[in-house]
Amino acid sequence: MSDLNHIDLKAIPEHIAIIMDGNGRWAKTQGEDRLYGHSKGVDAVRETLKTAADLKVKYLTLYAFSTENWNRPKEEVEGLMNLLVMSLANELDELNENGVRLQAIGNIIGLPEHCQKSLSEAIEQTKTNTSITLVLALNYSSKWEIEQMVKSISSQVKHGIITEEKIDHELISNELTTKGIPDPELLIRTSGEHRVSNFLLWQIAYTEFYFLDMFWPEFGKKELYEAIYDYQNRERRFGLVSEQIKSE
Ligand code: IPE
Ligand code: IPE
Ligand code: MG
Repeated sequence: MSDLNHIDLKAIPEHIAIIMDGNGRWAKTQGEDRLYGHSKGVDAVRETLKTAADLKVKYLTLYAFSTENWNRPKEEVEGLMNLLVMSLANELDELNENGVRLQAIGNIIGLPEHCQKSLSEAIEQTKTNTSITLVLALNYSSKWEIEQMVKSISSQVKHGIITEEKIDHELISNELTTKGIPDPELLIRTSGEHRVSNFLLWQIAYTEFYFLDMFWPEFGKKELYEAIYDYQNRERRFGLVSEQIKSE
């Protein structure tokens, strides 16, 4: 069930988030080092982004580097940062050709200067594109983001900018780095791990999860079709009973 004919083009999720996991283990199966796995992971990003754009997905959020990933060996961290800068430079024309607007979430000012620079340039140069928004989660962790939100809201209360009664889920959403981005309907994780690893905890309250055993560099068009097909065959009840959904 993996070709385009099986997918309902009128029920494509507006926002898909992906935990791209398994680059290192995939490289090992090829007898290569971890950085080779990461660079092949970029090819999978390109194919996935193109497929998502063709399907008219509006937002694709990719978990590219977590706050916890700083604790990896120095060479790997440096390699990942350089790969980011290189990929942004190499892909910029194609992003523009395909109408991709780039955004970033996470603690961006904690990234090395050269990454921040190429990231802000790519964001600036793609800001008027309208086909799809590619959101890169970089130096991201959900607990960090929630911490920032709590600090910001408490300071607004303290300074009398808002009253406590004004705090609701909408206000909270608007204080997160995902402000303005709808919550994802579908979250995909590759590599056989069944965990969220500090990703979008608030935003995935009602998201459908799709796990697959394959490593990220092996993911592509067919797998994205499969994930969407699977998603489309679920019943999202949001706390209601099945009959209520069907009578809508
Ligand atoms: C995902 O692949 C990419 C990043 C976390 C940057 P991994 O590097 O986690 O690969 P595995 O999980 O060790 O195989
Ligand atoms: C999650 O992958 C983070 C990214 C994909 C960037 P990890 O490989 O870091 O997650 P854990 O350590 O297996 O939970
Ligand atoms: Mg991993």
